[in-house]
Amino acid sequence: MESERTMRETSNLAELREGILKRIVPDGTERDEVKAFCLRTERALTERLRDAGLRAVAEVHGSVARGTWLSGERDVDIFIVLDNRYDREVFPRVLDVVKEYVGEGWTEAYAEHPYIRAQVDGFNVEFVPCFLFDSQQGLKSATDRTPLHTGFVREHLPMEAHDQVRLLKKFMKGVNVYGAEVKVGGFSGYLCELLIIQYGSLEAVLEGASTWSRGEVVDLVGGVDVRTLRKRFKEPLIVVDPVDPGRNVASAVSDTAMWTFTAAARAFLGKPRENFFYPEEAHVDIHDLLERIRGHSLSLLFVVVEDWQVDVPDVLWGQLYKAEKVLADHLGRADFHVFRSAVWSDEASRHILVFEFESATLPAIVKRMGPPIEMAENSEQFIKAHLGEETTITGPWIEGDRWWVGIRRPETSARGLVASMLRDGGRDIGISRRLSEKMRDGLGVLMDEEVGDYLDTDFAGFLDRFLKGRPGWLE
Ligand code: CTP
Ligand code: MG
Repeated sequence: MESERTMRETSNLAELREGILKRIVPDGTERDEVKAFCLRTERALTERLRDAGLRAVAEVHGSVARGTWLSGERDVDIFIVLDNRYDREVFPRVLDVVKEYVGEGWTEAYAEHPYIRAQVDGFNVEFVPCFLFDSQQGLKSATDRTPLHTGFVREHLPMEAHDQVRLLKKFMKGVNVYGAEVKVGGFSGYLCELLIIQYGSLEAVLEGASTWSRGEVVDLVGGVDVRTLRKRFKEPLIVVDPVDPGRNVASAVSDTAMWTFTAAARAFLGKPRENFFYPEEAHVDIHDLLERIRGHSLSLLFVVVEDWQVDVPDVLWGQLYKAEKVLADHLGRADFHVFRSAVWSDEASRHILVFEFESATLPAIVKRMGPPIEMAENSEQFIKAHLGEETTITGPWIEGDRWWVGIRRPETSARGLVASMLRDGGRDIGISRRLSEKMRDGLGVLMDEEVGDYLDTDFAGFLDRFLKGRPGWLE
């Protein structure tokens, strides 16, 4: 009986895997098209660079170069590998050549590093300058490692494991942990490749992840003691970069992403289902959603920011998460304890911060602790500060060994407090400069169903999931 059941489960899993592979592995036509585009671009751009007098070569890297991209994702990463005798001052010249090559419709973005994003022949291309790695000189910029990553993966990832990387990426996307970008704080494409090199297959990675512990070390290199690594890297997951032992490839992986992956891996192995890879998209009826907001047991507060000049996603999400944190901290200190919070953005013109409270209004009085009576001088000061003052509602009185007083609560509603903190943009509470400028101009602080006007976008789906409050794969 037992073995029959196990066999049936294994075959279910194989069937499920085949079905998913059909959708995520590019067919011959797609491969040919992508390959032709890459060759054409590498050749033409390298020539342009040479014509401009630059010692540089255009090379495709990332998942397209490593044969691990998901079918239909038309993202190509093109690196402009510069002679390492140049330094960063050459970047503007390089980017000018790219802009001229692309013609229309490019955007220039700065994260840690400048790059150009453009649509070329129906592909979304990122053109990223870097320096040819030289072991004597070491890294000149963060992106210099990428060609080394491509080299390592090409050498160590067997042909038949490429599709296992694709399955792992798709699984991670489905459970919302794929991507090292600030928004997600999850697993990069390169990290997926390394995990498959180490474990061998999707199932083996999931089995491994289901018993991970804090400070887990996935060791491809070998030879370094776990305790030393944990001292060097403080992140919850440690995967030493085989091309650079000083770096943790999993440094972006947050606690939430790592443990979400672990929990999802266990759930999937217990009961393999397609919705781990393809989460069901619930149809959200706006009237129904508004009813649920009205009937929700907790109060909701929304901070809506209209943006007219949105920053690159990594910078933007950094600002938004910081704003979420400082607001939650300040609210908590004023006794408005935040139950949960989250951030939504269309990354184009609107951001919405969501805070949930047990109570969004508090009584007009707050109890403040004074000094122990034993401390004569402090006691006298306390009495002088509060006795008969306009802000004193009751007391001061003695309770046990101390003075206490009941004073008027400066702000009785969470909305009022948020509005006053953000009135001048909230620089003083730690809102980033760029975001605070936008808050000063176009800010809405709304409660509960007042958010109704904003439910015409993808925000409705986000709020639906927030109210449900559990991962889509959990059953
Ligand atoms: N990269 C970078 N700067 C960018 C874009 C990419 O340095 N502006 C580097 C990343 O560090 C990575 C490689 O380029 O080494 C590819 O990045 P990315 O496209 O995010 O990952 P892929 O491995 O290509 O995975 P995916 O299939 O998701 O595209
Ligand atoms: Mg890519």
